[in-house]
Amino acid sequence: MSKLYVFDHPLIQHKLTYIRDKNTGTKEFRELVDEVATLMAYEITRNLPLEEVTIETPVSLAKTKVVSGKKIGLVPILRAGLGMVDGILKIIPAAKVGHVGLYRDPETLKPVEYYLKLPSDIAERDLIVIDPMLATGGSASAAIQLLKEKGAQNIKLMCLIAAPEGINQVQQDHDDVDIYVAAVDEKLNDHGYIVPGLGDAGDRLFGTK
Ligand code: PRP
Ligand code: URA
Repeated sequence: MSKLYVFDHPLIQHKLTYIRDKNTGTKEFRELVDEVATLMAYEITRNLPLEEVTIETPVSLAKTKVVSGKKIGLVPILRAGLGMVDGILKIIPAAKVGHVGLYRDPETLKPVEYYLKLPSDIAERDLIVIDPMLATGGSASAAIQLLKEKGAQNIKLMCLIAAPEGINQVQQDHDDVDIYVAAVDEKLNDHGYIVPGLGDAGDRLFGTK
């Protein structure tokens, strides 16, 4: 059963407020998304398994711990997912990064695939699909499906803001994928934008319109 986790850490919520604000310009928007991505990565890795190792400090031997288990792969959905990659890599620097290119057709709101490049060993990795926005859920669901068709077995989805419709769609399509978000908003508007949301994440990150 897919679970939904909402990261309510005060710093995440504080920064999200300024990310949402229409008066926040591209430079600051980009910096804030990067910072929130780091904080969310800290939360999403909370239950990583540890193993004991013995090392030598300058004083004595020490039994201590390192992260064990499967290696991590990040899969941003282009374009807007790119804005969260560096923030996550700051604390998971060895993660490999695959890219899924999808855009949402403005008329049908259905995702259109245009790019796919993945690490060769995705079946052995714990994958985190990254996209700031989970609106209808079409893009995230399609990205997850593409990864599964390439052999991925263990997938999490991490988004800044989700609409209830998107959460339902992903949970219906991918019962095995847990969803991690900073906020669940009220609804989608007639154009499939999240309300109140933050507008068009790609445009705000890259300064396009
Ligand atoms: C945005 C966003 C998601 C998608 C969410 O991308 O980054 O990928 O929309 O909408 P959905 O849940 O209804 O599929 P967009 O299609 O605008 O492409 P872009 O990142 O290239 O701007
Ligand atoms: N994509 C965005 O960038 N924003 C939304 O609100 C919905 C889809």
